Amino acid sequence: MDYQIKPLTRGFGAEIFGLDLSAGFSDNLAQDLVGTWNDAGGLMVIHEQNLTSEQHIALSRHFGPLFGDPRETPLQDTVSRYIHPDHPEIYRVSNQVSKDGTPKGRKGAGTYWHSDVSFRNRPAQASLLHAKTIPPVGGDTIFADQAAAYDALSEGMKTILAPLFAWHDFEVAARTQYAKPVVVEGDMNGANCARHPLVRTKPETGRKSLFVNPGFTSNIDGLDANESKAILEFLYHHSTQPQFLYRHRWTEKDLLIWDNRSMMHFAVMDYPDDEPRYMERCTVIGEPPA
Ligand code: OGA
Ligand code: MN
Repeated sequence: MDYQIKPLTRGFGAEIFGLDLSAGFSDNLAQDLVGTWNDAGGLMVIHEQNLTSEQHIALSRHFGPLFGDPRETPLQDTVSRYIHPDHPEIYRVSNQVSKDGTPKGRKGAGTYWHSDVSFRNRPAQASLLHAKTIPPVGGDTIFADQAAAYDALSEGMKTILAPLFAWHDFEVAARTQYAKPVVVEGDMNGANCARHPLVRTKPETGRKSLFVNPGFTSNIDGLDANESKAILEFLYHHSTQPQFLYRHRWTEKDLLIWDNRSMMHFAVMDYPDDEPRYMERCTVIGEPPA
């Protein structure tokens, strides 16, 4: 296909130039982009996209079934007030509030290391975040490559982690973890809880990744609380070292696509309330981690 690809870091990520998806795109082109994304370790930015909501959703469907699609899942109960009123597949992130007092999106979303929806049995695969309005500076998003972080562990540590599972529990994590997600009505209903292996394999590539995150992981199953905390804190420190990171400085109309199976991300909220930031996200339902 006719577009240019530039690596974002030595390890992961690609930057795409020369594409205008708003002019319409074929299934072939969309499938080709999914391949490019996989080849880039699951992180890709496509610049200058004037996508309509319909186009954003149509492209996202090429990555898999979507959260919020009435044909796939019930409405996203925990985040329903942030869902686009006309498009249940679109989740909105914003620091802005409408004149009638309703939020234009979730404020403070992801201002801690996390992997989207890891507290569900089928967590997010790709997230496709489209920047509609951004502050003049700040509001960057940082990504940490958990496949590279896994590879960098010793064989001894890999052997220790191999049989372990962890609980991902939004409610427990919100009360006890240092990440302390911003909590809103609906988060604490006890339903956002799942048990996943500490190391998961991406079916498309066979590559392994660490799969725990300070935002949502509450504890390692079967370990004493102090043992669990020691291992998790080691892993969080290990997996957020600079050599595993990419920091995205947004340009308006960027479409950023990341694979939640092999990376964590962190939204830096360093901009003031009177500088609007508005993003729209489609989120692909992944397979149960294994
Ligand atoms: C998200 C998220 C990051 C950001 O949409 O999943 O974490 O920078 N947002 O808005
Ligand atoms: Mn997120």
